[in-house]
Amino acid sequence: MQVIIFDNAQQVAISAAEWVAELINKKSNPVLGLATGSTPISLYQELVNKHKAGELSFSNTTTFNLDEYLGIDEINAQSYRHFMNENLFDHVDIDKSKTFLPTCNQGENPRAQGLAYEDKIAQAGGVDLQILGIGANGHIGFNEPTSSLASRTRIKTLTQQTLDDNSRLFAADEFQPTLAMTMGIATILDARYVLLMATGKNKAKAVKDMVTGALSAVCPASSLQLHENAIVLLDKEAASELADQEYYIWANQQNLKINQEFGLYHNY
Ligand code: F6R
Repeated sequence: MQVIIFDNAQQVAISAAEWVAELINKKSNPVLGLATGSTPISLYQELVNKHKAGELSFSNTTTFNLDEYLGIDEINAQSYRHFMNENLFDHVDIDKSKTFLPTCNQGENPRAQGLAYEDKIAQAGGVDLQILGIGANGHIGFNEPTSSLASRTRIKTLTQQTLDDNSRLFAADEFQPTLAMTMGIATILDARYVLLMATGKNKAKAVKDMVTGALSAVCPASSLQLHENAIVLLDKEAASELADQEYYIWANQQNLKINQEFGLYHNY
């Protein structure tokens, strides 16, 4: 795992945007895995800015989101499709027919929908770079604690902690879904690169469990310890419970030196 600690959340977003831009500018048909939630909003803002500045075109990009709520349709303002339109898709030159979320509408078989999503990712050539946030309970996507490390796209029941954490986004009388379709942990681990962003003190414990805790389904993000190319972008608060912070800062300086000398090498 490559842990990179920044002074603030804005620097995390800028760095994440550089990773995304590098992929999109390098590969002719890039496949990007996307996340929702508060953390990547500033990343999407950076990407929109790059697009508006003429530095980035999404015209050849295909996207797969991690998850989508069940029980609300895509025009609902709480749907993740709506979130993606509002925060990214409506502001860039992406072909929306190449943007996918794991949906399961009423009457559809969730098993078949999950398999179809996996097939669609495979047909696109697999995810090159998967953006991730992390739940305060260590979830990635909506793979809640004790999710199988071998899981694939399927329905998950959200934990009370996740429902409580996300209730800030729902009005008191608004329906808050308790189920979601989510890429599985194995689906996420299949991505060529994973880029996890975490900011704020409330993520510090989950970050510590992910980076230095035991590999365990109790902290689904710890599964990234198995990934060859997992990059973790943190602000100081999210990194605050990590031992050896100075080591990560020093190691990153060495990586930057190597990049300067030999150029970036990302095997997308
Ligand atoms: C979002 C997702 C979740 C979030 C996580 C953190 O698509 O899959 O795992 O990344 O809940 O959410 P925020 O960024 O709102 O703290």
